[in-house]
Amino acid sequence: MIAIRVIVYTGKGGVGKTSVAAATALRLAKLGHRTVIMSTDSAHSLSDSLQVPLSGEVRKISDNLDALEIDVQHELEQKWTEIQNYISEFLGSQGVEPITAKELAVFPGMEFMSALFYVEEFSGREEYDAIVIDTAPTADTVRLLSYPDVANWYFEKIFGIVRNLIKIARVTVGKVMKTPMPSDKVLQDIDSIRRRLAKVKEIMTDPEQTSVRLVVNPEKMVITETMRAYSYLSLYGYTVESVVINRIFPEDSGDGYFRDKLEEQKEHLAQIEVAFSPLKMLRANIFSTEIVGRNSLQLLADMLFGESDPFEIYSTEKPMRMYEEGDTQVLALKIPFRIDDSRRVELYNRKDLLIVTMGGYKRMITLPHSYASKEVGGAEFEDGWLKIRFREAEEDGRGAEEEGD
Ligand SMILES: Nc1ncnc2c1ncn2[C@@H]1O[C@H](COP(=O)(O)OP(=O)(O)OP(=O)(O)O)[C@@H](O)[C@H]1O
Ligand SMILES: [Mg+2]
Repeated sequence: MIAIRVIVYTGKGGVGKTSVAAATALRLAKLGHRTVIMSTDSAHSLSDSLQVPLSGEVRKISDNLDALEIDVQHELEQKWTEIQNYISEFLGSQGVEPITAKELAVFPGMEFMSALFYVEEFSGREEYDAIVIDTAPTADTVRLLSYPDVANWYFEKIFGIVRNLIKIARVTVGKVMKTPMPSDKVLQDIDSIRRRLAKVKEIMTDPEQTSVRLVVNPEKMVITETMRAYSYLSLYGYTVESVVINRIFPEDSGDGYFRDKLEEQKEHLAQIEVAFSPLKMLRANIFSTEIVGRNSLQLLADMLFGESDPFEIYSTEKPMRMYEEGDTQVLALKIPFRIDDSRRVELYNRKDLLIVTMGGYKRMITLPHSYASKEVGGAEFEDGWLKIRFREAEEDGRGAEEEGD
């Protein structure tokens, strides 16, 4: 089975993610790759960009090209009824009003999970060669991409709670039980969610399969936010493999206002080169009008890809490495930019669990067995990598903190 190719576009609001994603999908389809484009932004604009009506159901829009805009309500009704009903029944039994219980049953991040499940679903069928994902602005996307980690934790917990409930139920047989027991179907559903999340994570963090592409404009604020996103995405194990610089004023932009703009832009372009090199850079000029409909999207694709194929993988560097240095084991995490100098990166280690916290984001890493008897001996930043050194533990695992510089 040939692995499906996943291309994710992310970036600050309004930089051109939807346009670039749509242009990519059209080009892929034109080159013969069976492609599906999916928007995970609840404020969907993919349909406007492609000028075709879209919905929460996959729809064929032209040869080799299908599209959908994720619709949480639709997903819930179609796929989550069992679990949702159980959770609201459970909450109801604990005295929560029925209406509130129903609302609470929509657990956090459900919409993100729906999107990720499509990736898993499509990868299992052999209908597509490529999935292009158009996302919401960066902060939401980082949350989306951190989701397999977080959800896994959440579901381990739920699974534990449910198992305990069953145990309690066994010892209290004969007594009146107020708590409703989950049906076998609910248990199977929860277990299937865990398995599917693990699969999604495997696909999405395999650089031979998944590429995250950052869309940026030559503007100061945009660059700063994109640098931050690069660090967070790396922290969560995603390979950022290229940068799309969109809305570049062409050299012959005329005089007056545009001359000044052009000078300012040159500095920003240089800044992007420095910040993101050696990542592959794809470039597109600013259009005189909005990019709407196939013709202008094809023009955008020409600028971005020229004769090349968007299917190409530009980098397969993994943002996590484990190696030995003398007799210390090192775990290195790619963190290209420090998020905020006033905030520290914190490390917590206990047995085989390492938690790295950075600017409000938390990554939980399960360490291999060989690390179980070790503890964090120190950590420092070096050339865009956070090198965490492990040494034999003197006692049971302990927390450690890293000061930044
Ligand atoms: N190179 C360009 N030249 C001119 N207009 C552009 C260019 N790229 C994008 N646009 C226009 O800018 C607007 C925003 O683009 P788009 O919707 O692709 O951005 P986005 O990053 O998806 O935005 P959002 O964060 O709101 O989802 C659209 O009207 C689009 O047509
Ligand atoms: Mg968009």
